[in-house]
Amino acid sequence: MAVSFNESVIKEFEDIARRYTDRRATLLPALWLAMREFRYISTEVMQYIAELVQVPYTRVYEVVEFYTMFLTNKPGKYHLQVCQTLSCQLRGSDELKEFIETRLGLENGACTPDGLFSYQQVECLGSCHTAPVVQVNDDFHENLDVPKLEALLEKLKKGEVQRG
Ligand code: FES
Repeated sequence: MAVSFNESVIKEFEDIARRYTDRRATLLPALWLAMREFRYISTEVMQYIAELVQVPYTRVYEVVEFYTMFLTNKPGKYHLQVCQTLSCQLRGSDELKEFIETRLGLENGACTPDGLFSYQQVECLGSCHTAPVVQVNDDFHENLDVPKLEALLEKLKKGEVQRG
Protein backbone atom coordinates (compact mmCIF):
# COMPACT_ATOMS: atom_id res chain seq x y z
CA MET A 1 0.00 0.00 0.00
CA ALA A 2 1.31 3.44 -0.90
CA VAL A 3 2.36 5.69 1.97
CA SER A 4 0.31 8.81 2.64
CA PHE A 5 -0.74 11.13 5.43
CA ASN A 6 -4.20 10.57 6.85
CA GLU A 7 -6.91 13.13 6.17
CA SER A 8 -6.30 15.25 9.25
CA VAL A 9 -2.55 15.48 8.56
CA ILE A 10 -3.22 16.42 4.94
CA LYS A 11 -5.48 19.20 6.23
CA GLU A 12 -2.73 20.29 8.63
CA PHE A 13 -0.25 20.32 5.76
CA GLU A 14 -2.58 22.32 3.52
CA ASP A 15 -3.10 24.86 6.33
CA ILE A 16 0.69 25.26 6.48
CA ALA A 17 0.98 25.44 2.69
CA ARG A 18 -1.43 28.38 2.59
CA ARG A 19 1.19 30.47 4.41
CA TYR A 20 3.60 30.14 1.49
CA THR A 21 3.39 31.58 -2.00
CA ASP A 22 5.59 28.80 -3.38
CA ARG A 23 4.56 25.25 -2.55
CA ARG A 24 8.20 24.11 -2.77
CA ALA A 25 8.86 26.10 0.41
CA THR A 26 6.72 23.60 2.33
CA LEU A 27 9.33 20.87 1.99
CA LEU A 28 10.76 21.21 5.51
CA PRO A 29 7.36 21.44 7.25
CA ALA A 30 6.17 18.45 5.23
CA LEU A 31 9.22 16.45 6.31
CA TRP A 32 8.62 17.41 9.94
CA LEU A 33 5.05 16.13 9.65
CA ALA A 34 6.40 12.95 8.05
CA MET A 35 8.85 12.44 10.92
CA ARG A 36 6.04 12.91 13.44
CA GLU A 37 3.71 10.54 11.60
CA PHE A 38 6.11 7.81 10.45
CA ARG A 39 9.13 8.30 12.83
CA TYR A 40 11.52 8.05 9.88
CA ILE A 41 11.67 8.98 6.20
CA SER A 42 11.75 5.88 4.04
CA THR A 43 12.19 5.93 0.27
CA GLU A 44 8.41 5.58 -0.07
CA VAL A 45 7.83 8.54 2.24
CA MET A 46 10.33 10.63 0.26
CA GLN A 47 8.42 9.77 -2.93
CA TYR A 48 5.14 10.73 -1.28
CA ILE A 49 6.54 14.04 0.01
CA ALA A 50 8.00 14.83 -3.42
CA GLU A 51 4.52 14.47 -4.94
CA LEU A 52 2.86 16.40 -2.12
CA VAL A 53 5.27 19.32 -2.27
CA GLN A 54 5.66 19.08 -6.04
CA VAL A 55 9.43 18.88 -6.15
CA PRO A 56 11.68 16.23 -7.68
CA TYR A 57 12.42 13.17 -5.54
CA THR A 58 16.13 14.02 -5.67
CA ARG A 59 15.43 17.38 -3.97
CA VAL A 60 13.68 15.60 -1.09
CA TYR A 61 16.50 13.08 -0.86
CA GLU A 62 19.15 15.82 -0.71
CA VAL A 63 17.36 17.63 2.12
CA VAL A 64 16.72 14.46 4.11
CA GLU A 65 20.34 13.37 3.75
CA PHE A 66 21.62 16.80 4.80
CA TYR A 67 19.79 17.13 8.13
CA THR A 68 20.56 14.56 10.82
CA MET A 69 17.15 15.16 12.41
CA PHE A 70 15.53 13.41 9.47
CA LEU A 71 16.05 9.69 10.03
CA THR A 72 16.13 7.33 7.07
CA ASN A 73 16.06 4.14 9.10
CA LYS A 74 13.54 3.05 11.70
CA PRO A 75 14.79 4.34 15.07
CA GLY A 76 14.68 2.49 18.35
CA LYS A 77 12.03 3.26 20.94
CA TYR A 78 14.66 5.57 22.39
CA HIS A 79 16.74 7.41 19.82
CA LEU A 80 19.97 8.64 21.44
CA GLN A 81 21.60 11.59 19.72
CA VAL A 82 24.99 12.43 21.14
CA CYS A 83 26.35 15.88 20.36
CA GLN A 84 29.97 15.68 19.24
CA THR A 85 30.64 19.36 18.54
CA LEU A 86 33.35 21.30 20.36
CA SER A 87 31.66 22.37 23.62
CA CYS A 88 30.31 18.89 24.21
CA GLN A 89 33.56 17.27 23.13
CA LEU A 90 35.58 19.42 25.54
CA ARG A 91 33.21 18.39 28.33
CA GLY A 92 33.30 14.66 27.72
CA SER A 93 31.08 13.62 24.82
CA ASP A 94 33.78 11.21 23.58
CA GLU A 95 33.39 9.24 26.83
CA LEU A 96 29.61 9.23 26.41
CA LYS A 97 29.90 7.92 22.86
CA GLU A 98 32.37 5.25 23.94
CA PHE A 99 30.08 4.23 26.79
CA ILE A 100 27.05 3.88 24.52
CA GLU A 101 29.04 2.00 21.91
CA THR A 102 30.44 -0.41 24.50
CA ARG A 103 27.40 -0.83 26.75
CA LEU A 104 24.81 -1.13 23.99
CA GLY A 105 27.13 -2.64 21.36
CA LEU A 106 26.07 0.02 18.88
CA GLU A 107 27.90 1.72 16.08
CA ASN A 108 26.88 5.19 14.97
CA GLY A 109 23.57 4.92 13.12
CA ALA A 110 22.66 1.49 14.47
CA CYS A 111 19.78 0.12 16.53
CA THR A 112 19.81 -2.61 19.18
CA PRO A 113 18.28 -5.93 18.02
CA ASP A 114 15.40 -5.53 20.50
CA GLY A 115 14.55 -2.15 18.95
CA LEU A 116 14.93 -0.36 22.29
CA PHE A 117 17.85 1.97 21.52
CA SER A 118 19.22 3.57 18.39
CA TYR A 119 22.28 5.79 18.41
CA GLN A 120 23.45 8.69 16.32
CA GLN A 121 26.30 11.15 16.58
CA VAL A 122 25.11 14.65 15.72
CA GLU A 123 26.47 18.17 15.49
CA CYS A 124 25.61 21.00 17.89
CA LEU A 125 22.19 20.59 19.47
CA GLY A 126 22.13 24.24 20.47
CA SER A 127 22.60 23.70 24.19
CA CYS A 128 26.34 24.27 24.47
CA HIS A 129 26.00 25.95 27.89
CA THR A 130 24.79 22.63 29.33
CA ALA A 131 27.34 20.43 27.54
CA PRO A 132 27.64 17.58 27.13
CA VAL A 133 24.14 16.91 25.84
CA VAL A 134 22.36 13.76 24.72
CA GLN A 135 18.95 14.11 23.11
CA VAL A 136 16.62 11.16 23.72
CA ASN A 137 13.71 11.37 21.30
CA ASP A 138 12.54 14.98 21.81
CA ASP A 139 14.11 15.54 25.24
CA PHE A 140 17.51 16.95 26.17
CA HIS A 141 19.60 15.40 28.94
CA GLU A 142 22.23 17.91 29.91
CA ASN A 143 25.47 18.20 31.90
CA LEU A 144 25.91 14.47 31.51
CA ASP A 145 28.81 12.28 32.51
CA VAL A 146 29.16 8.52 32.21
CA PRO A 147 27.52 7.66 35.58
CA LYS A 148 24.57 9.94 34.81
CA LEU A 149 24.24 8.45 31.34
CA GLU A 150 24.40 4.93 32.75
CA ALA A 151 21.61 5.80 35.20
CA LEU A 152 19.58 7.35 32.38
CA LEU A 153 19.88 4.24 30.21
CA GLU A 154 18.76 2.05 33.12
CA LYS A 155 15.73 4.27 33.70
CA LEU A 156 14.89 4.18 30.00
CA LYS A 157 15.12 0.38 30.00
CA LYS A 158 12.66 0.29 32.90
CA GLY A 159 10.39 2.87 31.28
CA GLU A 160 10.93 5.21 34.21
CA VAL A 161 11.80 8.38 32.30
CA GLN A 162 8.95 10.82 31.91
CA ARG A 163 8.84 13.15 28.91
CA GLY A 164 10.27 16.57 29.74
S1 FES B 1 28.32 21.76 21.18
FE1 FES B 1 26.97 20.31 22.02
S2 FES B 1 25.13 21.41 22.21
FE2 FES B 1 26.46 22.82 21.21
